[in-house]
Amino acid sequence: MSGAGLSGCPVRSFLDLDTFAGGMPRDRLDALRREHRVLWEADGFATGRHLLVLQQADIDHVLKSPALFSSGEGPLLDDFPAEILADQRQSLTFKDPPDHRRHRALVEGAFRTQALEERLPQMQAIAAEIVDRVIDRGSCEFVSEVAIQLPLRVMCMVLGVPDADRQHIVDLTDTLIMADDPDFARDRAEGFMASIALIDYGEALAARERANPGDTLTTRILAAEIDGERLSDRDFGRFFNNLIVGGIETTRNTLSWAMFEFWRHPEQYRMLQADPSLVDAAVEEVLRYRNPVVYLRRTATGETEVGGERVAAGDKLVCLLGSPNRDERFFAEPERFDITRPPANTRRHYRTFGAGPHFCVGMHQARLNLTVMLGEIARRIDDPQVIGAPRHARSIFLDGFKELNLAFKRREH
Ligand code: HEM
Repeated sequence: MSGAGLSGCPVRSFLDLDTFAGGMPRDRLDALRREHRVLWEADGFATGRHLLVLQQADIDHVLKSPALFSSGEGPLLDDFPAEILADQRQSLTFKDPPDHRRHRALVEGAFRTQALEERLPQMQAIAAEIVDRVIDRGSCEFVSEVAIQLPLRVMCMVLGVPDADRQHIVDLTDTLIMADDPDFARDRAEGFMASIALIDYGEALAARERANPGDTLTTRILAAEIDGERLSDRDFGRFFNNLIVGGIETTRNTLSWAMFEFWRHPEQYRMLQADPSLVDAAVEEVLRYRNPVVYLRRTATGETEVGGERVAAGDKLVCLLGSPNRDERFFAEPERFDITRPPANTRRHYRTFGAGPHFCVGMHQARLNLTVMLGEIARRIDDPQVIGAPRHARSIFLDGFKELNLAFKRREH
């Protein structure tokens, strides 16, 4: 898409599906960050234009000032059809404070450290089972057979989704997240419909759990009160949509990128195998180096300034989360994949999980999924090799793969 006509606009917009065909063009992002503080570009997904926000301080300002920069139009660039937007606005990711705070409190407890500690033995058993299923074959399609499995099974377990429905949930999230990819959806309308179908599924799940309460997050959310009122089954359906989409697609992409980078850097993989205590630092490095969520959109509520640029009510701000992740002001040799970087510094400076009130509520769960799964893989699998050309998902929002074939050997201890 051409950006002609917008002052300071590059020839081709950064957020362009064809530019992203081989994954997010990180070199191009680095060049933009070095040259610009912020940058207007034409909007290929909806009407008008959006402002790319490239510097960490400006990203933090936008994401931490919800009164100036609202989530009310959602985190995606899309201009949603009015009837779908009205429904989505009731969901966590589209809410602004103070309403947002009250809703978010309902799920926070389920992903705090203590809850995770209780869940850990089950997660380790699931991770072992996932590797068991592929190890004797010596190869697998990593995205569907391994990467998605742990986050999917954990989320379904926590929410009380029956095993038989798991594939249906995966199909709907794939259609929703990869609505620009003809392998998953005919058009964007199909993506919107998948989102509604996920909400419908969550609503039906709520009705079942209300009739038969279980030891699940679903039952706990349904029993909770906000300002003396309980959530309706439909409200729960929206929560369900946020948790499923937020919890599954992001983690699966990160794990796929991890194996891709370990294939490119076999010495780093062997280092992890030799010293399993590096797993936390390895997870942080993958999250820094290959953040799966490309951008977060906010919408200006009135006239203000970002990065020295005037913005008006209704303008779209697009925070590029991967930009600070490779900023040389925060990371030495940022283009180098290095699992020995001190993880505390990496966590402080990357923006992989966002910032401000919507900061990822599942961050600890995400890290645990990744450390458990990567730890199990490194312990049992030698010499991972990508075979054939990986297939990237056609998306400008999530950076990841739809197919990554991997060959490997069983590790002899
Ligand atoms: C590598 C894995 C993950 C990444 C990179 C990631 C990234 C993010 C980001 C950038 C946001 C901010 C959205 C915004 O500001 O509009 C977010 C929000 C959210 N994430 Fe995650 N996430 C991950 C895993 C998870 C997991 C495992 C869960 C569930 C257990 C989860 C649930 C959510 C939810 C519900 C929100 C919305 C929070 C709110 O609006 O207040 N995420 N995530």
